[in-house]
Amino acid sequence: SAQSKIPQPPTLPFIGNVAHLDRELPIQGFTLLAQQYGEIYLIDILGRKLIFLNTQELANEVSNDAAFRKGVVGSLNEVRYLSGDGLFTAYEDEPNWAIAHRLLLPAFNTMAIRDMMEDMRDICSQLLLKWERVALDTIALCSMSYRLNSFYTENQPAFAAAMTDFLKECYIRSTRPSFMQALMSGTTAKWESDAKFMTDVATRILNDRRENPIEKKDLLDTMLYSKDPKTGQGLSDDAIVKNLLTFLIAGHETSSGLMSFMTYYLIKNPETMRKLQAEVDEVLGGQPVQYQDLSKMPYLTAVIRETLRLAPTAPMRMVKSLEDTYLAKGKYFVKAGSSLIVNTWVYQKDPKVWGEDAQEFRPERMLDGKFEALPPQSWQPFGFGMRGCIGRPFAWQEVSLVMASILRKFDLSFVDPTYNLELKQALTVKPKDLFIRAKLRHQAP
Ligand code: HEM
Repeated sequence: SAQSKIPQPPTLPFIGNVAHLDRELPIQGFTLLAQQYGEIYLIDILGRKLIFLNTQELANEVSNDAAFRKGVVGSLNEVRYLSGDGLFTAYEDEPNWAIAHRLLLPAFNTMAIRDMMEDMRDICSQLLLKWERVALDTIALCSMSYRLNSFYTENQPAFAAAMTDFLKECYIRSTRPSFMQALMSGTTAKWESDAKFMTDVATRILNDRRENPIEKKDLLDTMLYSKDPKTGQGLSDDAIVKNLLTFLIAGHETSSGLMSFMTYYLIKNPETMRKLQAEVDEVLGGQPVQYQDLSKMPYLTAVIRETLRLAPTAPMRMVKSLEDTYLAKGKYFVKAGSSLIVNTWVYQKDPKVWGEDAQEFRPERMLDGKFEALPPQSWQPFGFGMRGCIGRPFAWQEVSLVMASILRKFDLSFVDPTYNLELKQALTVKPKDLFIRAKLRHQAP
């Protein structure tokens, strides 16, 4: 087909397309532009050109490690202030990426994650106990005006608050002209002190472990004592701290956002909720979740897949082209070194792949071999290739365990029955102002 220019919305001098950005909710702005410009568009943010890819076909074309590599620019480059050459934010050629990747890959495989089941259940049961205590305290206070106080609501822990503030500011910084950034010393000081606070916590954890070794071989142990089979090198303390922070960044908001979205879709679709609870009841037979139960719940798998399709909590990823190339069968020219955004949030709703009801939550489309038969890279919430998510088996086991455990014991509903999905975004996307009620199920044994 004939060559075309990549469409671009009208620009202003110096700032380019900054006016087209949605500061509070970037994916909303990018979705609107996709509706307007179609499969591909280019925007210029302060001289930085970004090419957005909005269809399965284009996402599939750049899912190729031989021709495109992960790009660490924009907000991800700001996150580097904290996590540096840790796995998630490392530049392509930094030696610590390859070393940490080889050291940690075995520690993150399905078998190793299976050994974490006990720890995951420990934390999960704390949540369930907390929710049960809420019910107990409520009935005690309402029926006998007696405060059992077995349930304590803490404010958001300091570490989580620092993380949220830090990541949010990383995005805003990446869209701020440098002359403006220079004027915002207070904001920068807060951002730096959030990073320092988190770094100090991770450093304390590392030092404490070195002074007090434990029997268990966890990820920290692997990083402290394993050697890279290829180079014989280990990781420096600095690299270990950066990777500890990386796991906290990469493994916290993504999984929690997925569980929040899944909760929303289940409440919004009562028929799905009933089907899922029926599956959970049948497989568990009234017992707590065991590892071997997880592979026996195909509907649970379908619900998680469909949630990650409609609401991928890591909503986009960036790649750089290694050489001059063409996209869409020669239609669009792309220079070597261009920044391309795989717009996961938009392209996983591509009607060419999913049909007219692509915007709807329908887990059935993920069942009975339909998922396996999809066009390549139609579903890519964990990224792609060598820079794809190392924590995928971890996240899958965690979310399956927690959601099955919750649904076994509780019926969920909205506090506001008219609630409709609203979004908030830092580095990841989450539901906004989603408040739910959890009621102990009558039939729960
Ligand atoms: C990378 C998504 C959970 C650790 C990624 C990427 C995506 C992703 C899309 C690729 C980023 C890019 O191309 O720039 C998710 C989702 C999760 C999840 C949706 C949960 C539902 C986790 C967990 C951990 C983790 C639990 C750690 C325990 C990482 C790391 C990388 C990564 C270290 C960087 C890998 C590398 O570049 O070598 N994740 N993730 N993720 N994820 Fe996850």
